[in-house]
Amino acid sequence: MCTCENINEDHPGVKKVLGVVGSPRKQGNTHAMVLSVMEGAKASGAEAEIVFLGDLNIRECNGCHACWKTGQCIQNDDMRKLYDKIIQSDAIVFGTPVYWYGPTALIKAFLDRFVYFNCLENRSKIKNKSVALVIPFEEDDPKTAELIITLFERSFNYLDMHLTGTVIAPGLLHKGQVLKNSVIMQSTLELGKKLILDIS
Ligand SMILES: Cc1cc2nc3c(=O)[nH]c(=O)nc-3n(C[C@H](O)[C@H](O)[C@H](O)COP(=O)(O)O)c2cc1C
Repeated sequence: MCTCENINEDHPGVKKVLGVVGSPRKQGNTHAMVLSVMEGAKASGAEAEIVFLGDLNIRECNGCHACWKTGQCIQNDDMRKLYDKIIQSDAIVFGTPVYWYGPTALIKAFLDRFVYFNCLENRSKIKNKSVALVIPFEEDDPKTAELIITLFERSFNYLDMHLTGTVIAPGLLHKGQVLKNSVIMQSTLELGKKLILDIS
């Protein structure tokens, strides 16, 4: 787990992007797509940091809502450091493969912990952040990703976050296969550039 230094304080004016890999598979398609969005963001002058949810201990939200009263989640796990990173970032890249027509359990647990931001005191810490979404999957039918797209679109909207764009990548089974698809890789790169332009 990386440290929680605030890069914005060190480099004022430089936009900070957090890339979140929700696949447990390193060097996989999600990893490659998140990296490519980050490359696009870096080409536009941003700094970017990647986190692998599979490396972290992120428990499920237990619905106690203590975070709304105290400003801190009761669960003493890796999400504590991640909250700092989320708050310090200007934009976030969410990446998940399709797992049974939904997101991975890893990224769902991560998103569930955004309940922290669903109160008056904490909402300003997430409000207006720009977001990008990338979703690889095996089947050829683009509808395979529709439940995930709806889930994230509605959640981001509810949280007052701004979704810059989504890249879906059908027809991908094998680890890193997306790297051979120049159309998808170009789309993710462009999404990264747009993500920085979209930061309010
Ligand atoms: C548990 C599991 C469930 C999956 N479910 C689906 C599915 O419902 N539809 C689909 O098209 N692909 C499905 N896949 C395939 C992955 O989405 C695909 O291999 C993707 O490219 C993996 O991305 P990654 O390399 O980032 O892990 C599934 C894979 C796993 C391991």
